[in-house]
Amino acid sequence: MRIDGEAWRTIGLAADGCSVWVIDQTQLPHRLETRTLRTCEQAAEAISTMVVRGAPLIGVTGAYGLMLALQQDPGDQALEAAHARLLGTRPTAVNLQWALDRVRDLVVPLPLQQRADAAKQEAGRIADEDVAMCEAIGEHGLGLFQQLAAARPPEKEGQPFNVLTHCNAGWLATVDWGTALAPIYKAHRAGLNVHVWVDETRPRNQGASLTAYELGREGVPHTVIVDNAGGHLMQHGQVDAVIVGTDRTTARGDVCNKIGTYLKALAAHDNGIPFYVALPASTIDWSLGDGVAEVPIEARSPREVSHIGGRVDGGEELLAVQLIPDGSEAFNPAFDVTPARLVSALITEKGVASASEAGLRGLYGALD
Ligand code: MRU
Repeated sequence: MRIDGEAWRTIGLAADGCSVWVIDQTQLPHRLETRTLRTCEQAAEAISTMVVRGAPLIGVTGAYGLMLALQQDPGDQALEAAHARLLGTRPTAVNLQWALDRVRDLVVPLPLQQRADAAKQEAGRIADEDVAMCEAIGEHGLGLFQQLAAARPPEKEGQPFNVLTHCNAGWLATVDWGTALAPIYKAHRAGLNVHVWVDETRPRNQGASLTAYELGREGVPHTVIVDNAGGHLMQHGQVDAVIVGTDRTTARGDVCNKIGTYLKALAAHDNGIPFYVALPASTIDWSLGDGVAEVPIEARSPREVSHIGGRVDGGEELLAVQLIPDGSEAFNPAFDVTPARLVSALITEKGVASASEAGLRGLYGALD
């Protein structure tokens, strides 16, 4: 997607052919900076400090992290240690394990001298496949949006098609296009008068900082709202659809996504508003059924709750401000699970399905 008219991805192989550049998302929306990752440890740090974040992008960064590790030491022991180090960075998004296993399984049978190069090729393939899957999600979601927009009552004629989204499931969370935002970009390009309500998404404000940033660079009309405003807007007919991404989708269609997603699904259900979840195959964990009981939920630092980051008005300096009293405890579960019954449909690269085992199997086939 574009920043100031220039096409960008979030990650890529650097010009030296052996290191990796990423957009540093901790600096957005105020500074557009890239960082170079030269070691597996730097890749692991980038994931855990959220220089890169978003389920698909974490997976691709992990794959490149294994490449960096193999460049230093292609032996089995070093490979296993690198796999474990990268996997331990963030527990919830299943894409990380999926991508790490894919690279490891590919290189293990190879001679040592071929492993780093094979990992490089595979990481590149994972990145390119992610772009293709996200674009296909965009096409399928566009069809849904067009149907919904066409079915609106006559009094909504001429009004924008209002979509609410939570967190950042845009191109910054993937390699390009995004998951939940891909249908929005497609709709905007297709001439649908789309407007996006952007949940700020406390505590880290991925909506206010990242979703607003990327929608703005693409010229998509949007408005940032506090997380608690969504239910009110839904009650007053100001939301036509909700669309979010997911970090782990279970075989029966429960979806784990950024904390607060569940509350938006409840509000959408209460108001008869479609609640869509957009995902590539790499986000499905076929081994899990009951998402509430089984998906590991990352607890991040209480400091993300007690403090908020931003730019000094009119200045360049980025700083953190303390919000809570000295001595108060803070707790920071980073994700929650929305049960399948609250999800109107899953939008995948293979098409649209009900959030159910039958729906997912209909798209992806039975397990071997
Ligand atoms: O903690 P983050 O910023 O990595 O969380 C990201 C999300 O929850 C996204 O909605 C999810 O990864 C889907 S991304 C395409």
